[in-house]
Amino acid sequence: MADKDGMKLAKDYGLDVPQANQSFYVKGMDHVDWGMKDRLSRIFRPDTGKTVMLAFDHGYMMGATAGLERMDLSIEPLAPYADALMATRGALRSCIQPIHNKPVILRASAGSTVLKDDMSHEVTAVDIDDAVRINASCLAVQVFIGANGECQSLNNLLKTIDSGARLGIPTLGVTAVGKEMARTTRYFMLATRVLAELGSHIVKTYYCDDFEKVVAACPVPIVVAGGKKVTEMEALELTYKSIQAGAAGVDMGRNVFQSDSPVGMIKAINGVVHSGLTPIQAYDLYETEKSAQA
Ligand code: R5P
Repeated sequence: MADKDGMKLAKDYGLDVPQANQSFYVKGMDHVDWGMKDRLSRIFRPDTGKTVMLAFDHGYMMGATAGLERMDLSIEPLAPYADALMATRGALRSCIQPIHNKPVILRASAGSTVLKDDMSHEVTAVDIDDAVRINASCLAVQVFIGANGECQSLNNLLKTIDSGARLGIPTLGVTAVGKEMARTTRYFMLATRVLAELGSHIVKTYYCDDFEKVVAACPVPIVVAGGKKVTEMEALELTYKSIQAGAAGVDMGRNVFQSDSPVGMIKAINGVVHSGLTPIQAYDLYETEKSAQA
């Protein structure tokens, strides 16, 4: 071998420094493999342990949602400020440039639209090979606990967790609340725990009363969904209360891309999630950004 002779002598063995055992900063993820930790550390910022996911997967069931009529125009300017992009493979391939180097949370279940009364009947929407081609850092599966499609949606989750685990790709379990379900603390406590126990690496859910108990009882990170558009202040308060209660971040869509200033709003949300801004401080930031862009 060419380098066999004349090499620099190896001598820096750090004999007085024992190799430290390291714990991984993402909740409940100490015992997953290196590749999965690498993907999780792209989603959850190592300096804060939290994430701001930008969700724009609404079209898979809602069609051309307000603010997403032209994703090439509305999402591209927001991508630099998101920690992760949650989208369908169709949106990514057709509208989003693969240059942002942001982890993708790939929508991996589908099966009904808002035209149906019962939207709980879904199937798995993406083959794991295609998820790899997209370079997905996570697979998102909707689960309808308590609804008619509960069993099928849990089956989708389990299959996705298994196929993702083979390749080191984590799964985000989404608690989708059926129209007939009440959004109670008891419901979210049950649904989030079920999704985590079945192997979800991240759980997405809605904020509710006693949210700190929901977070405490869920052994993996919880990210909070934004929901329908409310005022900017209300969305910032929701973000603040979620983080104060222990959420590991938000997965927000309409309250960002339907805002009067989407860039201002995602910067303000970042301020709450990563810099500990209060809603009032974050709202000031939003107003400043909005004026600067006017
Ligand atoms: C659910 O998973 C949906 O597809 C959206 O990603 C989710 O509802 C987040 O978006 P929004 O903040 O608009 O509710």
